[in-house]
Amino acid sequence: MDPSMFDDDNGPDDEHSFGGVWTLIKLEALEKYLVAFNNALSRQNFTRIYIDAFAGTGRCDITIDGEKTSVDGSARRALVANPPFHKFCFIELKAKKLAALKALEAEHPDKSIEIIRDDANVALKALCGKYDWRNTRAVLFLDPFGMHVEWSTLEAIAKTGAIDVWYLFPYSGLYRQAAKNADAMDSDKLDSITRLLGTDEWRQEFYAPQRQSDLFGNESGDAREADHHEMLKYVSKRLKMIFPAVAEPKILYQAGDSKNPSGAPLFALYFAASNPKPAAHGLATKIAKAILDTL
Ligand SMILES: C[S@@+](CC[C@H](N)C(=O)[O-])C[C@H]1O[C@@H](n2cnc3c(N)ncnc32)[C@H](O)[C@@H]1O
Repeated sequence: MDPSMFDDDNGPDDEHSFGGVWTLIKLEALEKYLVAFNNALSRQNFTRIYIDAFAGTGRCDITIDGEKTSVDGSARRALVANPPFHKFCFIELKAKKLAALKALEAEHPDKSIEIIRDDANVALKALCGKYDWRNTRAVLFLDPFGMHVEWSTLEAIAKTGAIDVWYLFPYSGLYRQAAKNADAMDSDKLDSITRLLGTDEWRQEFYAPQRQSDLFGNESGDAREADHHEMLKYVSKRLKMIFPAVAEPKILYQAGDSKNPSGAPLFALYFAASNPKPAAHGLATKIAKAILDTL
């Protein structure tokens, strides 16, 4: 891993360091699901874990209609979910944010909290191998700023058969990286899309050879023919290949409210259940869909 990832003043994740209306929507969905999940499993003997893979600080700075404000973030909301989780894992890469998470831990001396400083992909793969998933169930929140979640991480999560996932998929990250003209993409961009989607087949899915040659008779490279709706359909198709149940995502926009959005679509909020038992993933998805419908 690039050591500069750990540097607080470095890295690509300053993008959207201020959230917006989408921040409130994703947090509302998560918060509702955490309560429903704990209620649904409260009479069963599972150890219930909340895993926050891009945990932040417990507070979110947001700007809505030019007004800056600060709201409780995912970690803080999970800690007060009722019925409560038995255990919390907060993963965060940046040292400054870790200090805030430690302070949050000190505010909740009664809770079992593990704080992990690492890249989310590395830490999640380790967590997937650490627990006995026969008697453990978890909700995982994947809330990256950009295209940080690797497909191989999603595969490890799906394989547990015991983790429900809320994934704030970087919709605009994908359609911006996938340039209209394939020649404009360098190998870093190509690789980042392949890591995100777990295959390089996206090139055939999204791009087609251009029929025209330029003035000098040179064939130009492939052009993207898939629009962003089609790209997202492909993402859903890929997720359904590894998770037994995936809910239709809620598209989160730059501005407006959830009923009257405006601006660019930024994220697609996905819910995916990894439990292979139809009764379990059926119930989880029913709850998640009901929540997504209210947003
Ligand atoms: C959108 S914020 C998370 C906000 C948080 N979920 C909340 O509601 O308060 C993304 C966080 O991921 C952290 N981060 C960035 N890259 C990471 C990585 N590779 N692994 C783990 N955390 C990372 C950033 O420092 C940032 O705190």
